[in-house]
Amino acid sequence: MSKKIQIVSKTAQVGEVEELCRAVADEVEALIKEKEAEGKKVILGLATGSTPLPFYRELIRRHREEGLSFENVMSFNLDEYEGLGRDHERSYWAEMWRNLFDHVDIDPSNVSVPLSIFEDAGEAALEYENAIKEAGGIDWQLLGIGGEGHIGFNEKGSQVDSRTRRIKLARKTTMDAAPSFGGEANVPTHAITMGVGTILEAHRIVLMARGESKREIVNRAMSGEVGPEVPASFLQNHGNVGWFLDNDAAGS
Ligand code: F6R
Repeated sequence: MSKKIQIVSKTAQVGEVEELCRAVADEVEALIKEKEAEGKKVILGLATGSTPLPFYRELIRRHREEGLSFENVMSFNLDEYEGLGRDHERSYWAEMWRNLFDHVDIDPSNVSVPLSIFEDAGEAALEYENAIKEAGGIDWQLLGIGGEGHIGFNEKGSQVDSRTRRIKLARKTTMDAAPSFGGEANVPTHAITMGVGTILEAHRIVLMARGESKREIVNRAMSGEVGPEVPASFLQNHGNVGWFLDNDAAGS
């Protein structure tokens, strides 16, 4: 059974990965059904990386075995590598289709990922912000956390009021991505990311973390000083954040 632990003043849901993913999927399913009953779309903010993969598998299972429909879902991804293009297998666009969208009944016109190739970064970023606004804002935002506390690609130094923008990736981020790119030299140096301020406007935020390597940074994010040194610490200012940690990330 999963349990709740208290990390200083914040409460986290802690347990085995599978049960955490079921709990997070329960939230999404309830929201889809609630909005459906109101005749509205659900606006999800989604993340890539390894952390959400078992959660996406659980959503796909519910779609296949229990008929959970994504027809009413609109999604905005957090970030995208610059310069790869959507056809590149490591682009976040391709990852999202491979790991979730290809396997559920979402309308492709309801899927948004920041552009990978653009002429003017400022314009591409502003268009993304505007698309989120036009959709009515994000109801439910999923986050992972980087080894140095980034959320999206808001690296160390990102301010609380930052908006969607082009950003240079931190060395730790490119090093972490190196194995999946066949070497750090192949990792893009820049990305487009939703800003911290953009993320904090979501009605509900769920941060998932797995593995011992995330333990220390999760602790700093949840109960350390709030500031740009650990951008995930700004989540402490949001009134509706769920922290879902596996036993290794929680250190229990
Ligand atoms: C991905 C993203 C990143 C990741 C973070 C953790 O869209 O925005 O912030 O969530 O780097 O990555 P994993 O899950 O691979 O440890």
